[in-house]
Amino acid sequence: MSACITVDKDKRIYKIDTPNTSYVLGIFDDEGFPGHIYYGERIPDTDVAYLARCSEYAFMPSVNPRDRSSFMDRFAFEYPGNGVGDFREGAILVKDAKGHECTQLTFVSDRIYDGKPELKGLPQTFGYISSGKTKNDKYAHSLELELADPVTGLRVFVTYSVYDDSDAIVRSVRIINSSPADMILEKAMSFAMDMDSDDYELITLHGSWARERMIDRRPMGYGKTSVGSIRGESSHQEHPFMALVSKDADQDRGNAYGFSFVYSGNFLAQVEKSQFDSLRVMMGINPHNFEWRLGPGEEFPAPEVVSVYSHDGIGGMTRSFHDLFRNHLIRSPYLHRERPILINNWEATYFDFNTDKLIAIAKEAKARGIEMLVMDDGWFGKRDDDNSGLGDWTVNEKKLPGGLERLVSEVNKIGLKFGIWMEPEMVSPDSDLYRAHPEWAIAVPDRDPCRARNQYVLDLSDPEVEEYVWNAISSVLHSANIEYLKWDMNRQLTDLGSACLSDTTQGELSHRYMLAVYRLQERLVNEFPELLLENCSGGGARFDPGMLYYGPQIWCSDDTDAIERLKIQEGTAIVYPLCSMGAHVSDCPNHALGRITPFETRGHVALAGTFGYELDITGISERERDLIPEQVKDYHRFSGLVRDGDYYRLASYSENGMYDCWEVASKDGKEALITYVQVPAKVNAGSRRIFPKGLCDDKKYIIKQIFPDEKQVFPSEKDGENDMQPLAGETLMKTGILIKNQWGDYKSVLLQIIQA
Ligand code: DGJ
Repeated sequence: MSACITVDKDKRIYKIDTPNTSYVLGIFDDEGFPGHIYYGERIPDTDVAYLARCSEYAFMPSVNPRDRSSFMDRFAFEYPGNGVGDFREGAILVKDAKGHECTQLTFVSDRIYDGKPELKGLPQTFGYISSGKTKNDKYAHSLELELADPVTGLRVFVTYSVYDDSDAIVRSVRIINSSPADMILEKAMSFAMDMDSDDYELITLHGSWARERMIDRRPMGYGKTSVGSIRGESSHQEHPFMALVSKDADQDRGNAYGFSFVYSGNFLAQVEKSQFDSLRVMMGINPHNFEWRLGPGEEFPAPEVVSVYSHDGIGGMTRSFHDLFRNHLIRSPYLHRERPILINNWEATYFDFNTDKLIAIAKEAKARGIEMLVMDDGWFGKRDDDNSGLGDWTVNEKKLPGGLERLVSEVNKIGLKFGIWMEPEMVSPDSDLYRAHPEWAIAVPDRDPCRARNQYVLDLSDPEVEEYVWNAISSVLHSANIEYLKWDMNRQLTDLGSACLSDTTQGELSHRYMLAVYRLQERLVNEFPELLLENCSGGGARFDPGMLYYGPQIWCSDDTDAIERLKIQEGTAIVYPLCSMGAHVSDCPNHALGRITPFETRGHVALAGTFGYELDITGISERERDLIPEQVKDYHRFSGLVRDGDYYRLASYSENGMYDCWEVASKDGKEALITYVQVPAKVNAGSRRIFPKGLCDDKKYIIKQIFPDEKQVFPSEKDGENDMQPLAGETLMKTGILIKNQWGDYKSVLLQIIQA
């Protein structure tokens, strides 16, 4: 079934259908309160307004104005206002010209149409299939509700968009000041929904530097529970995603509601469990340090939120997010292309490199099948450590005589592509740029701004600074044959002060900053359409759907240890497709935590992402170097499957403490790849049973052991030989596959399942 939006005009009920889900809302009472009715499995009927319980209480304001607050405080508002009787937190807070903050939004008009409106200046999902390259707006369907507060002159457009091939509903909000005076927007959530609590549990992703996106699942208590960022980036610490899942929800079963914010700056994701056991879910720009002055007639577009409901548990929710992001968010031409296998010199050399060193790495890399050299931090200005040089984007000729042009042409002659690192949003206090323009750094007058990694953040709300940054990026990229850019961002925003904003608009800085980053990246993808852009932020502090709109991949974490990556990549993949996760094989002992893991396991874990290397290939052992061509072969063999297939989480090391296992199955069910990692070795242990998924019930399959190749790891009658008879997909999925206990810690197994 495809998506559609229907309306029962008499009853004032709207039903928004995706192929497998329905979302129902209605307009209630004479006053026209927009209210939430149902979100769940797809239903055939539109009139389910009895679920709004209005008659149950007889507290409709038009019937019983005396007890208006009883209605306001329990009604399931679609976009709740503030200060007029609903004591749960509202989605919008506006101070009018007289200093009042009360808002009550009621229905004005609706519009249902094919296509999806553009959100100016913001990353967003779009209404055509990215792989198809044809822009077909009919693929998306939208409902726009116009709400207004006649007292303040506030108008709010809430838009719901759906796609024929996706179980996601995308929500966005535009706020317009139609009064004759200025208003101050103090809070503008993009998403609000009141639902029955039904004992849900909350899943969020928390972390730290080098420990991003750890899965946290907990019961929902009363009051407000929230995650958020006020760091000016989506952050290492918390993530613009949350899910409400039924207690019984696992990878295959149960109700899962997921919410993802298409934005890369400050965010708030909050659930409030009320006295009546309802849940108010909200998501949007964090109101902390946020203010936006809206002049008469001006409009504020809030970034969009994607919601997904799945009856098939967390796994179903995950696959809906993956498909939506692949088909309707990532625009890069690399989305369905094999990405070049790159080798990055960061962990190989840090700041200590020159042309000779890079050329030596490039030669060894080429000989082993690697396809691109990426030169990381330290190639410009005075930059021998992280204390200086940011902002001075001219080549350090002492390290690279002849400049980029010479280096790149030598690397190209060897037969490798060339990529480069930049951190365009920053300035070092010790830089020519800062000496010339100290006022370009974000700072509060008379307050020494906080340094982080000994650097400041450039004030991108200043158009002159934005232009400088653009010129820096574009002149570097035009100066040589550069085919990849790693855009890094290594510190958070503090000391929020802008020399270019007025006293009354300082609260706009963080959002204006984000809008400028988006403008710069938009210019980048337009001027360099074939450039492969990998976003990065001190590892994965800006791994979010906003950045995926511009670049197809994001560096996942500065922790490249294969075992830590199991957890980081599991948490990341709960929302994001594997093709977006930057993952590299690095050297051991691992630079982040000193662990030694087999080179093969490092390769298999990196295969679950974009795959590449981050080591000094001239310095590793001959044995390890010789393993690279085999890994390169595996990458070429499986990258299409990993990039475009369906992801299934079969076992979780973060849950069981023993082993990790995931699978990617092709959409047509013809092939699947299972990766299994045994973390601690266990003496005298039996084999483990793994249940593949995503196969066709009635097709026959054989299992091919890709790794290890010396002996069979799944038992069969004649052990040691790959003599297993073809089995039906249904049999394999129901009975499972046995994987033998491995000798040693951190051992990986790679199995391919193919139709016989
Ligand atoms: C942080 C990134 O995550 C690293 O990969 C590396 O590029 C450094 N910055 C360079 O300063």
